[in-house]
Amino acid sequence: MTFETRVMGHRGAAKLAPENTLASISAAADVGTQWVEIDVTIAADGLVIFHDDTLDRCTNGSGPVKMKSVAELKALEVENQFNPAFSNETIPTLVEALKHIQDLGLSLNLEIKCAQPDVMKIVPDVLAQLAEHWQDKSKLCISSFNHDVLIAVRNIDSDLRLSQIYKAIPNNWPETLSSIHAFSLNCDYALLREETALAIKEAGYLLFCYTVNKPELVQEHWKWGMDAVITDDPSLFFNTGIK
Ligand code: G3P
Ligand code: MG
Repeated sequence: MTFETRVMGHRGAAKLAPENTLASISAAADVGTQWVEIDVTIAADGLVIFHDDTLDRCTNGSGPVKMKSVAELKALEVENQFNPAFSNETIPTLVEALKHIQDLGLSLNLEIKCAQPDVMKIVPDVLAQLAEHWQDKSKLCISSFNHDVLIAVRNIDSDLRLSQIYKAIPNNWPETLSSIHAFSLNCDYALLREETALAIKEAGYLLFCYTVNKPELVQEHWKWGMDAVITDDPSLFFNTGIK
């Protein structure tokens, strides 16, 4: 099985525009990216696209995201060290992001972020919004570090492509991926070793590595069978002829 792209944008394209905003997704599309990864998390009354548990790093707000309503989150300024044109960006809702990604003709790696007690608060809502607002399951995969999230997704939907994310890959990865009929294993490129990469590919899974921001860092990984990188700046790879 080969994958349709070798380069996915990370948080949209986090080196080109404020991460996880609609502008970041547009920036990824503008440089020719087909797939984008974004993070969905839970707010007090809805689902938003945001990486951290707290607001402090990426906005002018503070405290836990999940304590704020969507209206309160939409009123915040998003940290912008890029183009002044991005200064009106806000934290997108999941539905806004789904619409924008499809309007641009992109495919989506949707990472579900949640603490353990929130698994059944977020998964049914994410799947309900996908069922209503996402057209083509072949242009979608759901990823998470949290295996219980992926089990919950699989229990509701037997078709969706599921990606187990790891930092360091544990020894029980074969059982873990098999139990959810996983599509891919997504891991930190710096911790991946050749023997494990070859075993993942031998087992029939796609292998995606994050967050690769210099093409020269993964020259060996391509030889081991890595299918795609997840990068903050896809143009760095496109400029070297990797598509
Ligand atoms: O899916 C790859 C990557 O996004 C996982 O790490 O922390 O950037 O969401 P993080
Ligand atoms: Mg992520």
